[in-house]
Formats: sequence, structure tokens, C-alpha cells
Amino acid sequence: MPQPAYVIDRLISAKTIAARIETLAQEIEAEFAGTEKLVVVGLLRGSFIFIADLVRELSLPVEVDFVEASSYGNAMQSGREVRILKDLQGDMAGRDVLVVEDIVDTGHTLAHVLDLLRARRPARLKTIALLDKPSRRETDISADWIGFDCPDAFVVGYGIDYAQRNRALPYIGTVRFTAS
Ligand code: IMP
Repeated sequence: MPQPAYVIDRLISAKTIAARIETLAQEIEAEFAGTEKLVVVGLLRGSFIFIADLVRELSLPVEVDFVEASSYGNAMQSGREVRILKDLQGDMAGRDVLVVEDIVDTGHTLAHVLDLLRARRPARLKTIALLDKPSRRETDISADWIGFDCPDAFVVGYGIDYAQRNRALPYIGTVRFTAS
């Protein structure tokens, strides 16, 4: 199906993202200082660039794992029903775990993944989201670390897609539809 015409307006530059990740990594290191191994769990697919940059800023021993939960598909609306499409590979029992999300929108995805993880009895469970859309929240969830507050707009870039496009943009931008 053809996509409607749109342009992308720059919202957060690559430089601003990199600087923020440096600060976040310092705070995470302080929180998990002395950990034997931190398990960094990325929510696919939107977090893949964020997680790659974040782990390279962390001076901690890390293990990386991934979960994939169903979300928007090709539409622009968030669903309440969350399904796990790909489960973790590793055992989380007794481990220090950091869940990495691209955007907390309604919060249903993160809430569902946290329920799943809690059931596996990690020692510590923390969350970080690159972007937070508090005005769209339908759950009482909030991440322990937030990169940036985000307006109620549809964003792309830095791993985040619109209909599987624009993930490779180095910056984050908002999608604006143009009359075709
Ligand atoms: P939630 O369950 O409503 O919090 O939705 C979270 C997921 O929806 C995120 O992990 C994203 O994959 C997707 N999402 C939310 N807002 C946007 C957006 O502005 N652009 C692209 N994907 C989004």
C-alpha cells in the first residue's frame, strides 16, 4: 500500500543524543557499580541503535539480550494488547537487569515486558527509555531514566521507524504529512 507523502522535521540532533547518552551512562554506572554482570535487555526493534550506543558508553561488564513485543505494525496507533514475538535467551534469575525501550507512549509495552521479567526473579530491574511521551500514557508506568521528553507527535530516526522506514536516520525527527 503506498504511504502518504510526508517530510521529517528535525527534533533532536545526533550530537544532542550522544551527549545525553554519556550522562545517562554515568548515572547507570553509579547505580550498578560493583555488579558482576549487567544484563541489558533491548526491546526490538526500535531500541537497537540506542542500546548499541549505550552499552559502548558503559564501563561495566554487560551481557546483551533482546525481547520483541508487538507494537504499532504499520499503523500509527499504539495497541493495548501486547504479544511477545521473541523471548529472552538468557536466565534472569538473580541478575541485575536494565530494560532499554525506545519510546514509552501509552506504556502498555513496557508494562507487559516488566511483568514478564519480574516473574523471572531478577535481583534488580531498572528501565531506561530514550523518549517519553507522558501526555499519551494509559498506564502508571515510568522509566527510571529518560533520554528526552517527547511531544505528542510521531517520531522517527535513531532506530525508530514509520512503516519500517527511517530507522537509519542519525537524528530524531517528527513526521509531518504533506498534501500530495
Ligand atoms: P506503548 O506500548 O504505547 O508505550 O508503545 C511503545 C512502542 O510504540 C514503542 O516501543 C515504539 O515501537 C512504538 N511507538 C510509540 N510512539 C512512536 C512514534 O512516535 N514513532 C514510532 N514508533 C512509536
